[in-house]
Amino acid sequence: MPLNSSARSLVVLREEHVWIARMLECLERLIEDAARRGRLDAESSAELLALFVHFADGVHQQREEYALFPRLLARASTVAERVAIGKLCGDHEEERRSLRALSERMLGAIYGRGSDLAGFLREAGLFVRLHRAHLIFENLNLLPLAERVLHEEDDALLCELYQQLEHGEPLAAQIGGRIRAIGAHLGLEPSTASEH
Ligand SMILES: [Fe+2]
Ligand SMILES: [Fe+2]
Repeated sequence: MPLNSSARSLVVLREEHVWIARMLECLERLIEDAARRGRLDAESSAELLALFVHFADGVHQQREEYALFPRLLARASTVAERVAIGKLCGDHEEERRSLRALSERMLGAIYGRGSDLAGFLREAGLFVRLHRAHLIFENLNLLPLAERVLHEEDDALLCELYQQLEHGEPLAAQIGGRIRAIGAHLGLEPSTASEH
């Protein structure tokens, strides 16, 4: 029997997409503030980058790459479905390249080098566009595809694999609290979508 939108393995990913969207809003605010003040908020940028590297690019994308995508590929029945999954793996690699460039520039910008601040603003803008397009594609294509082709036993298997990936990681509630704190520190309006 196909899954529905309440399947636990998909709810986890959908909730994380909401958090990652909030992180992108925080990064946009950091870009605006840094461009206006001519310096980067070291604490918020370092905390946000740590969350992008270890949560968004880390545990979240690992859930997709090591758990969801292989199951989807096993269940996919058309070339178009397999191509969509391949595109998402390519997106992840592109985001990782972009994130590395962003991290390198961030340290120089915190140090106070003007060329690195300009580089950070450019790389951060690119990263926001890439990552937001990826989130939208996954929400509109990947999760509905998973609902159509996966079965109930896949949901149980995915949840088990997620647990293995979570071993030693901060708890989801802590991640949410940290993202909320960055948004509050940057003066963003509370996000109704991410407050659960
Ligand atoms: Fe995702
Ligand atoms: Fe992804």
